[in-house]
Amino acid sequence: MNSSLISSRHAPAKATELHAQASPDFAAKLAETETLLRRAAAEFQPLTQASSLGAEDVVITHLINRLQLDIPVFVLETGALHTETLALLERTQAHSRAPIVVYRPVPESVIWFIRNEGQDAMYKSMQLRKACCNVRKMEPLARALHGQKAWITGLRQEQSAARAEVPLHDESEVSAKGLHKFNPLAIWTWGDVWHYIATNKVDYNPLHDQFFPSIGCAPCTRAISLGEEFRAGRWWWEDEAAKECGLHVKK
Ligand code: ADX
Ligand code: SF4
Repeated sequence: MNSSLISSRHAPAKATELHAQASPDFAAKLAETETLLRRAAAEFQPLTQASSLGAEDVVITHLINRLQLDIPVFVLETGALHTETLALLERTQAHSRAPIVVYRPVPESVIWFIRNEGQDAMYKSMQLRKACCNVRKMEPLARALHGQKAWITGLRQEQSAARAEVPLHDESEVSAKGLHKFNPLAIWTWGDVWHYIATNKVDYNPLHDQFFPSIGCAPCTRAISLGEEFRAGRWWWEDEAAKECGLHVKK
């Protein structure tokens, strides 16, 4: 038997092959998403997309580019991302029409934190894990959102019980921060996301081919097994209810 046949038979299935399955009303969902993005770009300037470079976020960036919307994208590069994510970041910067702006933590804060708490502090207590998220994500997020009227995220209702009510247009941060939040894929299924990626040949993080549905920092993300929850690989040593880094936690 020829060797290419053997290797192709044993190659693990791609995420596109495993997950792409459009909902019956996918065309209507896509149309609604496009309308929302166009309206946000027209009425809520300045606004920006928050991208972790995960599957949902590469779909949104692709839509922003395809619709030629005036929406820059920002990535919080925490200093603890996987090499696969960093490589995708470079490719996205090289090919995106929309500007990709990278925010990094203050170097002195990271060094101070590691000197005092150690590089593995996140495993020692939830308090230290959140302190690490504060230094590496929350402070850079505040800089990324400063002066913005709205931001766009890849949150979906299906992702977890805590996100089951995520709306397309979230106005809960308007009174406190003057910030609108758009979640254009709120009602998309995982199958819808991968259907879009497959049909539009969107570049994606290869970790998705290795059973990482939800990808964050390397020390805090693992692959999931069959039957596990979507976000089971995030902060897996903590309680289910605590599995948010603060980016989307309502005060
Ligand atoms: S998290 O709060 O647990 O980290 P998750 O990884 O599910 O969130 O991502 C949800 C949304 O938060 C993403 O679709 C994206 O909009 C935003 N987000 C998460 N991580 C980042 C990041 N590193 N940079 C920019 N946006 C991010
Ligand atoms: Fe630190 Fe982990 Fe939070 Fe990343 S996800 S900022 S490594 S605690």
